[in-house]
Amino acid sequence: MAQDNTDQANYWNDRAGNTWAELQDRLDTLLKPLSDAGLRAANAQHGERVLDVGCGCGDTSIALAARGAIVHGVDISGPMIERARARSSEVEFILADAANFAAAQPYDLIFSRFGVMFFSDPTDAFANLHNLLNAGGRLVFVCWQPPTENPWMSVTGRAVAPFLPVTQPPPDPRDPGPFAFADADYVRTILIDSGFNNIQLDSFTATLQVGTNAEDALKLQTRVGPAARVMAELEDSARTEALDAARGALAAHQSASGVQLGAAIWIVSATAA
Ligand SMILES: C[S@@+](CC[C@H](N)C(=O)[O-])C[C@H]1O[C@@H](n2cnc3c(N)ncnc32)[C@H](O)[C@@H]1O
Repeated sequence: MAQDNTDQANYWNDRAGNTWAELQDRLDTLLKPLSDAGLRAANAQHGERVLDVGCGCGDTSIALAARGAIVHGVDISGPMIERARARSSEVEFILADAANFAAAQPYDLIFSRFGVMFFSDPTDAFANLHNLLNAGGRLVFVCWQPPTENPWMSVTGRAVAPFLPVTQPPPDPRDPGPFAFADADYVRTILIDSGFNNIQLDSFTATLQVGTNAEDALKLQTRVGPAARVMAELEDSARTEALDAARGALAAHQSASGVQLGAAIWIVSATAA
């Protein structure tokens, strides 16, 4: 039976997808150090058939095509695929759920930049990706380490948390979302169970410039990422105070070259056979 990712489809076809499309340039600049590390590990070759999963607005698909690969980008978000198509006609951008996606020919490489942590049934979805690879095919993706290792995303969320209306039970950290693959052992288990071999997780860290100053950083964080989701839940009365707290937390990381905060990812690689 086809996997149901309706919740994520709704999320990425509504405000989140439109915001990512609107902020595409800024987000690609922000994520570049992490992107470059993932692309280096993928080492795409001229003529290889590559699938970019959860390709969003297409930045990494375009980079893979620039290396001479034949690239398909698949994503569940209409607004983001539309943005990607407007950026390049060299890549074939496909609006589809990667968990249920079928291809006419197998791929040599499946790549993803932060696009594989949103499946309702990750093992089933990765089994589908495994089936899309040829016998010698490889999988390379980047995903986030835990929030504690990613102050660039968690500092704002922590600052606004005390202003949230009611204490809700903490969500399961493995629920679909940016940090679903933070636990390396969990990722390894998913990949083993979906048929992959030669599984490797390498830690990569970088310092990101999240804004020119605290106000600029806050503007971005109120629109995308986990802090934006938290802030959407704030009641109007608490909003000003919460934003002040977030601005203060970000200002503490101001340097001569803007607000600088740490990020940590896993570079995950595996082979189909
Ligand atoms: C954090 S964004 C990353 C986008 C892009 N890879 C980038 O780095 O800019 C996650 C992406 O995964 C996509 N996505 C989520 N679930 C998906 C699914 N089941 N199939 C295909 N894409 C999915 C979202 O629409 C979104 O574009």
